[in-house]
Amino acid sequence: RRFVILVSGRGSNMRAIVQAARAGTCPADIVAVIGNRADSAGLAWAAEVGIPTAVVSHRDHDSRESFDAALAAEIDRFAPDYVLLAGFMRILTSGFVDHYRGRLINIHPSLLPMFPGLATHAQALSAGVRVHGCSVHFVTPVLDHGPILAQGAVPVLDDDTETTLAARVLEVEHRLYPQVVRWLAEGRVRLDGNRVIVDGENN
Ligand code: GRF
Repeated sequence: RRFVILVSGRGSNMRAIVQAARAGTCPADIVAVIGNRADSAGLAWAAEVGIPTAVVSHRDHDSRESFDAALAAEIDRFAPDYVLLAGFMRILTSGFVDHYRGRLINIHPSLLPMFPGLATHAQALSAGVRVHGCSVHFVTPVLDHGPILAQGAVPVLDDDTETTLAARVLEVEHRLYPQVVRWLAEGRVRLDGNRVIVDGENN
């Protein structure tokens, strides 16, 4: 199955997915990496390892609708089965989200439905939770609220800062997202209405 990955910055989740695909641990074909910022380190890395890349800059568009239409046109040139958001920092219109219904996936650095939005590690620290983590979910028009495919948890330690907590969560992200991509690539998971169905083995 064909995957397009969208990034805005560092792209470490995208790298983890590409590396898993190349190591043969998930039968995914990463057909393109597309970004909204030409200076993204993730895009540069993808180009270096020989993956087709493209930039669709939000600065070239004066509305979300126009940006999303250009982005969808670029994505669809690669005819993906799935579109993965991996640190893609733009809010997408419901038109875009509907176009990829059941095929658009995101990773969010919290145990949803806790702490949607930005600064999730700061939110977790100020809420005083003892457990934090990340979620991979289908994208629906409500930000950070789609049906959850998988979650990974980490402890919150007494001396944690945003930086130490973020690093602990990121390590889990790098295992969790490739695992979900493997499920998708193997056709073992799908969105049914508002529920996620996972067939077969449970990991
Ligand atoms: C990750 O923490 C991801 O969960 C969030 O943004 C960050 C992106 O990091 N959506 P990277 O670009 O994958 O390194």
